[in-house]
Formats: sequence, structure tokens, C-alpha cells
Amino acid sequence: MKSGQNSSIGRKRSPTVNLSNTMIIEPIEGTPAATVTDVDLARLNENSWQEIYQAFLQYGVLLFPAQHELDDVGQSNFARRFGNFEKTSPKQDGGTVAIANTKSNGSVAKPGEYQYELLRGNEGWHTDSTYMPLASKAAMLYAQVVPPEGGETGFADMRAAWDELDAETQGKLEDLSAYHSLYYSQRNAGYQFSTDNLYGFHDKGAPLRPLIKTHPETGRKSIYTGRHAYGIVGMDPDESEQLLTKLMDDACRPPRTYIHKWQPGDLVVWDNRCMMHCARPYDTQYPRVLRGSRIAGDEATELAPTFPDKRATAFNPTTSNQSSLS
Ligand SMILES: [Fe+2]
Repeated sequence: MKSGQNSSIGRKRSPTVNLSNTMIIEPIEGTPAATVTDVDLARLNENSWQEIYQAFLQYGVLLFPAQHELDDVGQSNFARRFGNFEKTSPKQDGGTVAIANTKSNGSVAKPGEYQYELLRGNEGWHTDSTYMPLASKAAMLYAQVVPPEGGETGFADMRAAWDELDAETQGKLEDLSAYHSLYYSQRNAGYQFSTDNLYGFHDKGAPLRPLIKTHPETGRKSIYTGRHAYGIVGMDPDESEQLLTKLMDDACRPPRTYIHKWQPGDLVVWDNRCMMHCARPYDTQYPRVLRGSRIAGDEATELAPTFPDKRATAFNPTTSNQSSLS
């Protein structure tokens, strides 16, 4: 067995060197992340891909610096290796979408605008698409333009956070479930959205998901809540909110976190089935342009039943993430 494969997933911390390709996978000390260097993602061979995928399962978040030749097609091809694309916008064609505060006329989004409010909402710790019937498997961001200060992305290892809990707490959490809603999380951040079939602001209902997720490939357990989660079944709303807030406050701390300071050409990929992430604030008069790809979860393990969301104006349950307008 090569180093970094399943027997040591999430635990092994020594560098892995792929001698045939010279690719180096090296943990970032004091964090759950690893850096992958001496690899060109635009020209990835099968051996390197296999090593990368095992490292993705092991670490949960991988940084590929200086991928300056990675264009939109190259990123889509890399993302497609992880699974099917999520189509998060009707305009999306292929595997990538702009995650940017800039508009088509070159100006930056301002307070009060939809684009601004969605980006600011993402400053809370979360897992992607848990508010959709089918949650995300993985996601990646590629940096094109970054502000002079701030605008980092934080990552937190929810497997390590679960491992840190005492057995009694683990036992109490294991049978609990909570609803997930983007309406809820955006309202908590101070932004109100109406139902209009934009991704997340839909009439499909609020998915009900277990608080503790067992990873479908590694078998490891992790805390699976984040900013979209609310209304633990069987608890009053205040008690539920206190518990969900405490879980995140305790979990998202060093050494379980990695805060990535972006440089143009960086690509970061993470496993949404065991990591939380968040954007970090910056002076929004500066442009920040990232190219994102979101990979759909497996229906066997990331599809959840939905229930009426009182913040939406309609409830038309479906197991599809697709917008009826797209
Ligand atoms: Fe996100």
C-alpha cells in the first residue's frame, strides 16, 4: 500500500513523495491541510490523480499553489474527476462559476445588492449545498484577483472536532437531526431573500440532515451542521440554536483550522463531507475574483428528505437540485 492510502486516512502527517511524477504532498503544520506541489493540474496523469484523491480523503483540504496555466477548461476537467458538477446558476455552462464581488461592468457589488449579501453571508462556517436536497461532495476555488488584505478562506476539520468530544456528548449528538436552509442562514447574517428559484432560495423545502455524518468513503464521523442548520428535531428553537452555535464555536478552532491567504494561481479543493469552510472579510472596494467548482454528492449518502420551510413562500418537494427556471 502506498503512503497516504486508506489505512491512515485523516491521521498520517508525513510528506508523501510520488517518485514517478515528482509530485510532493506535504502537510501544513498545525492545520488539517496539505500542500501539493510539482504537479500541473492542466496536465494531470492518472497516477498523480490517484495520489491526489487519496490525499483529498486523508487531509480534507488540499492547496495547489501557482497553477498559473489552469484555465476554465482545465479546472472543469480536474473538477469532473471528483464527480458530477452542481449547476448553481442557470448561466453556468460547464464546471465553473465566478465567485467574485465584481459585476459584468467591472464595478464591485455594494451593500444591498444580492451578490454582496451572498458573499458576506458566506463568512459563516458552512458546508456547501446542505440547503439543497442533494448536498455537495466537494468544492474547489481558483484565485484570479485577490484583495491586498483579508479575503482568506478558512477551513475546519469536523472529523477532528468529533474526535475531540467526550463519549457522553457524542452519544447525545448521534441521534439528532436539524433542518438546513439558506433563507435561515442569510437572515441570521442580516439579509432577507424571497423565493424566486435562485439556487438555495427555492420551494423544494428544507432538508433534514443528521448532526453527525459518517463519511461514505472513509467511514469517519464528523460534525455536519454549520450556518445553514437550524431547528434540531425535539428541541425548542433557543436550545437548538445554542447547541448548534456552541458546536461550531468549539469545533472551528486551531489546530483543526487552516486559514488560506490567497495568491493568484492558487487552487484549493476540499471535502464538503467532513470539512467546514468560511470566507473572511476584506475591504470590498477591492475586487476579489475566484473561480469555483462544486461537485454534487452521491445520492446514496448526500440526498436528504425535505420539509416545509416557513421562510419560503411555497413548498414543492423534489429530489432534484435543478431550478425549475434553469
Ligand atoms: Fe461555500
